[in-house]
Amino acid sequence: MPTRRLLPTRQLRRVPRGAPDPPLSGRLVDVLAADQTALVRPPIVVVGIGADGWGGLHPASVEALESAAVVLGSQRQLDLVRGHVRVCRPWPSPMLPAVTGLLDSYPDGLVAVLASGDPMLYGIGVTLVGRFGTKRVRVLPHVSSASLACARLGWASADTAVVSAVDRPLNQLVRELAPGRRVLVLVSEADAVARVAALLTAQGYGPSELTVLAELGGPKESMASEVASRWGQRPNPRLAIVAVCSQLEAGAAARSIAPGLPDEEFRTDGVMTKREIRALTLAALGPVPGELLWDIGAGSGTIAVEWSRLHVSCSAVAVEPRADRRALIAANADALGAPRVQVVAGSAPDVLAGLEPPDAVFVGGGLTSPGVLEGCLESLRNGARLVANSVTLESEAVLTSWHARLGGRLSRIAVSHAEPVGSLHAFRSALPVTQWSFTKGASP
Ligand SMILES: C[S@@+](CC[C@H](N)C(=O)[O-])C[C@H]1O[C@@H](n2cnc3c(N)ncnc32)[C@H](O)[C@@H]1O
Repeated sequence: MPTRRLLPTRQLRRVPRGAPDPPLSGRLVDVLAADQTALVRPPIVVVGIGADGWGGLHPASVEALESAAVVLGSQRQLDLVRGHVRVCRPWPSPMLPAVTGLLDSYPDGLVAVLASGDPMLYGIGVTLVGRFGTKRVRVLPHVSSASLACARLGWASADTAVVSAVDRPLNQLVRELAPGRRVLVLVSEADAVARVAALLTAQGYGPSELTVLAELGGPKESMASEVASRWGQRPNPRLAIVAVCSQLEAGAAARSIAPGLPDEEFRTDGVMTKREIRALTLAALGPVPGELLWDIGAGSGTIAVEWSRLHVSCSAVAVEPRADRRALIAANADALGAPRVQVVAGSAPDVLAGLEPPDAVFVGGGLTSPGVLEGCLESLRNGARLVANSVTLESEAVLTSWHARLGGRLSRIAVSHAEPVGSLHAFRSALPVTQWSFTKGASP
């Protein structure tokens, strides 16, 4: 069967006469001029480079770097191309605030930006495309460190989770852990592998095998393995990715991904939504990847934490007036691997105006305080959900009256557990919970 070309050259527009100096060669123009608007301002090309340096670059990447008026990158990356390009310029530190000004300061000619491996895998490509758009930024990827690590280890890329601890919280690794699960962790600090090992050990995954793959693809490539609980404090190589083959301690139970974790998994002063009610509450909140929850009067933060554990892109704002409880929320988010929980000091409705609009709101307390439900309902966009739980008669009356006004679904949830009565057992009922769930704009 003939190979299909994704972008036939004849469909690409050529650079017009009188293009900015330095002139771009025909083939690079093919890459860059897929849209005429790329030529309105000089395009930015993000070039992925590996530890094998200049010799490992694809011809299109070589061409881009050679034609660039300036090449920006980290000192390590620039050292790989020095002598082959016209002007090298290291990123200032911190880099992000300076990006726009720096790129705009080269009005003439192509600006090339170096990135390690695949610029769209936790790389500068993501930042630049986000800021300048795909019309101005072209990305020429190299093989990613994750692909190289999977190739060396014989791991299927599709079955391997990749998390980045570069400028991000390491505890996102927690939600990926399960017996036998394979995870790659991008790291940048000298003590990063020690921190990965300590986290695994604290989570009951001390027997996991860690493999530190350094300088992948380069002449100094190396690979070293150790069980997490024995890694200790030794430093790791400068450019490394950590492969974790998760293994749980004998007798320990793996943490479920389903909402409704056992109550004992949370640190609490007693103010928490209990397991079965929590599971039903999350079902009623209806999380979808990418959505934001407000957990109002979050207490120990159980709903916010479970919401955020459901998908890497789910996030939550936990609003809580008491400092001791805010500390509990932060500790639970950390221990259970929910880095996207933001803890906000204060009370509803006062603090709501300053928050990003939610996709769902949970009100677990404070229903009788003036303006709380009104404030939450006002902040809902069409299609956003509100779920409120009550145990007292007074707060139940508030929910009943809102149900009468707006419709939605009013439920009574009663949970009983068998407990010892002398030498026998009987069901002991927890206080029943009245739950109102409402979707804005839905028919009542
Ligand atoms: C900001 S991330 C960018 C990842 C990059 N975009 C990629 O495709 O690999 C940088 C991290 O990737 C990992 N990394 C990149 N190149 C590597 C290499 N050649 N060998 C080992 N790890 C590498 C390291 O964990 C490094 O700190």
